[in-house]
Amino acid sequence: MPSPTDPYRTFGRGYAEVRRPDPRIARQLHAALADAATVVNVGAGTGSYEPAGRRVLAVEPSVTMVRQRGPGAAPAVRAVAEDLPCADGRFDVALALLTVHHWRDPVAGLTELRRVARRQVVLTWDVEVMARYWLVADYLPEITVRERRLATVDTVLRVLDGAEVRVVDVPWDCTDGFLAAYWRRPAAYLDDGVRAGMSGVAALPASVVGPAMARLAADLRTGAWRRRHGDLLARESLDVGYRLVVAS
Ligand SMILES: C[S@@+](CC[C@H](N)C(=O)[O-])C[C@H]1O[C@@H](n2cnc3c(N)ncnc32)[C@H](O)[C@@H]1O
Repeated sequence: MPSPTDPYRTFGRGYAEVRRPDPRIARQLHAALADAATVVNVGAGTGSYEPAGRRVLAVEPSVTMVRQRGPGAAPAVRAVAEDLPCADGRFDVALALLTVHHWRDPVAGLTELRRVARRQVVLTWDVEVMARYWLVADYLPEITVRERRLATVDTVLRVLDGAEVRVVDVPWDCTDGFLAAYWRRPAAYLDDGVRAGMSGVAALPASVVGPAMARLAADLRTGAWRRRHGDLLARESLDVGYRLVVAS
């Protein structure tokens, strides 16, 4: 059953606008699906990165997110990863993109991915690599403190043992506004609407985020940010810690 406490009821509003799938990341995710004809997309949200040309079932507990799925999106059932309404081995691939850290029982959910599909493709991140990302290291280290308690790549690999881990580089003009999407566009973080699409920031109190953003604004004004991180402005893409776990 969907959780009675759905953080995405408020957090998920406007998600489809700020979290538009990035075509370069989509190519990498779809390559990982290989020849899969049937896919279950667990924690599917608004349907980002659901592949065309394959039979897809979306599993998503939040009605706020399901309502933002486009008219051509795959059929969606309201359910949670921990109790998938699917027969054993029913799908070629179980997909879970930037969702495992939200699950109440990630180990149970990941075990369900293994039960219902022959292969698993999970997008998550390495907290310790992300901890070095300038937004986190210089302005919001509270993100790392919180995320060390969440299920990220280590938990995924513990359940999907023997899986391959692929680095997902973030293009400088990434259209999917997740936490590190704006690594080369620092002023974007000053926008409340942009930050609202990032659960890692949205989960922190305003008393933490407000002063941190005031410091970032000042550093952009004085040139301090550019002196520290100006080398990034010449880069096309960056490894900020996102990892694709591919298991079979
Ligand atoms: C950051 S969104 C990611 C959505 C989509 N996969 C994407 O990449 O845009 C996380 C999603 O996980 C969903 N979610 C939260 N708890 C869940 C659970 N226990 N089982 C499945 N999905 C869950 C949320 O409702 C939300 O839609």
